[in-house]
Amino acid sequence: MSEDLKGKVALITGANKGIGYEIARQLGSRGATVLVAARNIKRGEEAANKLRLNEIDARTVQLDVIEQKTIDSAVKQIESEFGKLDILVNNAGIIPRIPHC
Ligand SMILES: NC(=O)c1ccc[n+]([C@@H]2O[C@H](COP(=O)([O-])OP(=O)(O)OC[C@H]3O[C@@H](n4cnc5c(N)ncnc54)[C@H](OP(=O)(O)O)[C@@H]3O)[C@@H](O)[C@H]2O)c1
Repeated sequence: MSEDLKGKVALITGANKGIGYEIARQLGSRGATVLVAARNIKRGEEAANKLRLNEIDARTVQLDVIEQKTIDSAVKQIESEFGKLDILVNNAGIIPRIPHC
């Protein structure tokens, strides 16, 4: 296993499943500490547990990309626990509501 991202901290939004989970798994496999950002903390923890079983340093961050207060608290959590963020993957897509004409 390559360790070229050892010491790096990566946050991936929508990382509890799908493409986000796979990005987390791949970054973690390269040695990064991955912050599994999930809007539902339980689903995030389940995904982080699965990654940890694969010897990945995975943590959970509660973050809903359309809820500013969850973004603010994620920033505080990352600042206090790591003091930095090296990689940000904003994977969670949102489709804005288009008002009917
Ligand atoms: N799969 C494709 O073929 C494809 C093609 C083009 C683009 N994309 C884009 O790639 C991204 C991931 O696709 P995917 O197929 O992996 O989707 P997915 O399996 O549906 O996973 C989406 C992830 O985003 C999370 N999420 C949704 N809304 C969120 C929000 N407001 N805040 C935080 N997290 C949120 C979901 O959390 P919950 O589990 O809580 O719902 C889930 O973890 C999306 O942006 C999608 O538009 C995908």
